[in-house]
Amino acid sequence: MNKTILITGGAGFIGSHVVREFVLKYPDYKIVNLDALTYAGNLENLKDVENSSNYTFVKADITDAAHILQIFEEYQPDGVIHLAAESHVDRSIIDPTAFVMTNVIGTVNLLNAAKEIWKGNFEGKRFHHVSTDEVYGTLGEIGLFTETTSYDPHSPYSASKASSDHFVRAYHDTYGLPVVITNCSNNYGPNHFPEKLIPLCIHNILNNKPLPIYGDGKFTRDWLFVIDHAKAIDLVFHEGTNGGSYNVGGFNEWQNIDLVRELCKQMDEKLNRPNGTADQLITFVKDRPGHDLRYAIDATKINQELGYKPSVTFEQGLSITIDWFLNNQDWLDSVTSGDYQKYYDNQYKAG
Ligand code: NAD
Ligand code: TYD
Repeated sequence: MNKTILITGGAGFIGSHVVREFVLKYPDYKIVNLDALTYAGNLENLKDVENSSNYTFVKADITDAAHILQIFEEYQPDGVIHLAAESHVDRSIIDPTAFVMTNVIGTVNLLNAAKEIWKGNFEGKRFHHVSTDEVYGTLGEIGLFTETTSYDPHSPYSASKASSDHFVRAYHDTYGLPVVITNCSNNYGPNHFPEKLIPLCIHNILNNKPLPIYGDGKFTRDWLFVIDHAKAIDLVFHEGTNGGSYNVGGFNEWQNIDLVRELCKQMDEKLNRPNGTADQLITFVKDRPGHDLRYAIDATKINQELGYKPSVTFEQGLSITIDWFLNNQDWLDSVTSGDYQKYYDNQYKAG
């Protein structure tokens, strides 16, 4: 069926995998990638699909309401998959306002544009908001986040994402906008920007630089391979219940220190270095303020309702990820030049 799907943030880490999944799997869809190309957006991520006949890129900032409405009027999307965001917790601690602008105001601008062009005729229409498990706050040693866990965000990033989730639900409840929300655990994989733990450590191991572990390293995250997140978005976008939300995860919890040790082991093997070489770079540094202890997703609903299961184990996904970074060191060099270095020096100076 011919449909136009507008994907925001499609030049970013997760967005580029979602764009690729849709461009390749749905040749009858027209895929419009709307992205401002901030430091985190990179069209190199989409080199292999950029010439596809069903793909178009539009450079735009979702905080610019008038431009967003103009783009919606021009392309008349049937579906929106909204990933554009400021996404890094440490940056949100430095500059919360940027997170309110893009994550809250930007989301509301998109909701308004969809409401404006759909004009109450919602047949075949859908607004899919891509969110995070961080909206639920932190878990203690036990328990899992379900779709009914109360929102309790702590970082400026998670507060802005929680707010955007509330606006999406409000537009469903108030104006009848057809929406779905996915709340996913931490992603990892190819094209991951090296401000986040896994690609930062891969980059630093390659350059023999310290691997900064916040606090005691016992903080726990639940990791999902990015292509499995893209597949979950495809499933929920097409088959999720209108107005529903779905937690996405793979029951794959790791304490940060154990995860980094596993990464060091695999990197030593792949680089033919003696076992234990990368481990020596591990350095405990000052903790992140307001650091959430543990995130862990109960993915029962998406599994039972939609039959979702991740396609790779963590060991396989991590191996694919490391291989991708080893084979794409030009990409890593290009995204770590310029402003990245300033950010890095400022963030880790107190070490
Ligand atoms: P990312 O930072 O890699 O990419 C964000 C993209 O959004 C970039 O291409 C950037 O250019 C674009 N963007 C930023 N501000 C914009 C603006 N004002 N207008 C238009 N485009 C703008 O982020 P990511 O890790 O790929 O995350 C994508 C989405 O998934 C986000 O909404 C994030 O909250 C959510 N999410 C991320 C994770 C994770 O582990 N990374 C987990 C769950 C949910
Ligand atoms: P991160 O990749 O920033 O994702 P998020 O904050 O969204 O979970 O961080 C993952 C975990 O790793 C988190 O507990 C913070 C920790 N961390 C470090 O210990 N050192 C680092 O340099 C970074 C970036 C993160």
